[in-house]
Amino acid sequence: MKHCDLHTHILPSIDDGSKSVEESVKLLRGLKEQGVECVCFTPHYYSHMVPAKEFLRKRKAAFESLKDSIPQGIEVRLGAEVFVTDYLFSQENVLNKLCYGKSNYMLTEFAYSSDFEDGSYTNLLKLKQKGITPVFAHIERYPKLMKNHDKIVDMVNMGILFQTNAVSYCEIGTRKKLLRLVDEGLVHIVATDVHSEKRNSYKYYGAAVKYIEKKLGRAAVERLCQNSVEIFSKT
Ligand SMILES: [Fe+2]
Repeated sequence: MKHCDLHTHILPSIDDGSKSVEESVKLLRGLKEQGVECVCFTPHYYSHMVPAKEFLRKRKAAFESLKDSIPQGIEVRLGAEVFVTDYLFSQENVLNKLCYGKSNYMLTEFAYSSDFEDGSYTNLLKLKQKGITPVFAHIERYPKLMKNHDKIVDMVNMGILFQTNAVSYCEIGTRKKLLRLVDEGLVHIVATDVHSEKRNSYKYYGAAVKYIEKKLGRAAVERLCQNSVEIFSKT
């Protein structure tokens, strides 16, 4: 079983994640110890604050600073965690550049207060219409959505993939709800959303995988891993 982490803030000095090349290398080594072989770098991109071109230039510079220090045995790709606003669609020819590698999958984030009855939902539809498949980051952070099972089903039927954070499977308040969604095929991806040595969320990846396997069986874990591998392989 191959493990890919599709949500990380490992690129140095670009967002609220890693502060240095040294820290980035520690985080990559930490992920490797958890069994992760493929890593997507997904720094925050706030579409209402910064032109995408500027973000992409900064991302390239951050990657250049790190690339020669990437530990052996880890494959990496570039991506972004895109905070989706109307401004995203006002910029020409940037959507595909914000997807994972050369794929049409985009890690997306919205205001956590959203109930997806509003503009956020419209923007998800717009992405789909433009041929982009949203990978919806950490669904567990959206309280209104977590209480609206029908809406989750609707969004999955729309073709959205839901990502969850590994650490959430280690938190008693959240893990049962997520497990139910995994069991129902409504959660597709587990990733670390690792930011720093201090927050060390990468350390929960192995525990999350073990917990899901214990509760739902190996096939459930294999399905989750396969979803991430498929996206990574399209990059
Ligand atoms: Fe993130």
